[in-house]
Amino acid sequence: MNRGSPVYLYELAWILPSIAIPVGMLVALIVLAYGGGVHLPGDEGRVNPTAVMATAPFDQPGIVEVAPGRYEVRMIAGIWLFTPNEVRIPAGSTVTFVATSRDVVHGLLIPRANVNVMLLPGQISRVTARFEHPGEYPFFCHEYCGIAHHTMWGKVIVGPASNAKHPDGDSTS
Ligand code: CUA
Repeated sequence: MNRGSPVYLYELAWILPSIAIPVGMLVALIVLAYGGGVHLPGDEGRVNPTAVMATAPFDQPGIVEVAPGRYEVRMIAGIWLFTPNEVRIPAGSTVTFVATSRDVVHGLLIPRANVNVMLLPGQISRVTARFEHPGEYPFFCHEYCGIAHHTMWGKVIVGPASNAKHPDGDSTS
């Protein structure tokens, strides 16, 4: 076909986007998966939803320092609160949330961090985020769970970076 003909250009105008759009989507998927840490949920474990409070690690909800600068938050969602609903860490911490629900479907969303998981009764959710900058990072239940769903929230409070030389928190400066 004549390369300059209007028909050829018209075909090209359809064919090129039909290749470029899926290739662009694939690239975006790869960049987000490996660069942005976006991934599908996996099977992180199960727990008897009627015995959450008596099952480790949820029998001791709260925050645990598992290594220097690395924390694990064992969290229970229930109508209509998170336990714990306030988490304090120093800036530069990496925090893994290990969470489940003790009643209905809840969610855990931290808009200012890469945290967005459903909390299903019987299933354990695990998600890790890094908190680089001091400030408050509110978190919310983002699955409708009943009349007081909108009151179900808490916050991660990121304080100044801890000084490794003074792990007890004594301030000498
Ligand atoms: Cu819990 Cu909405």
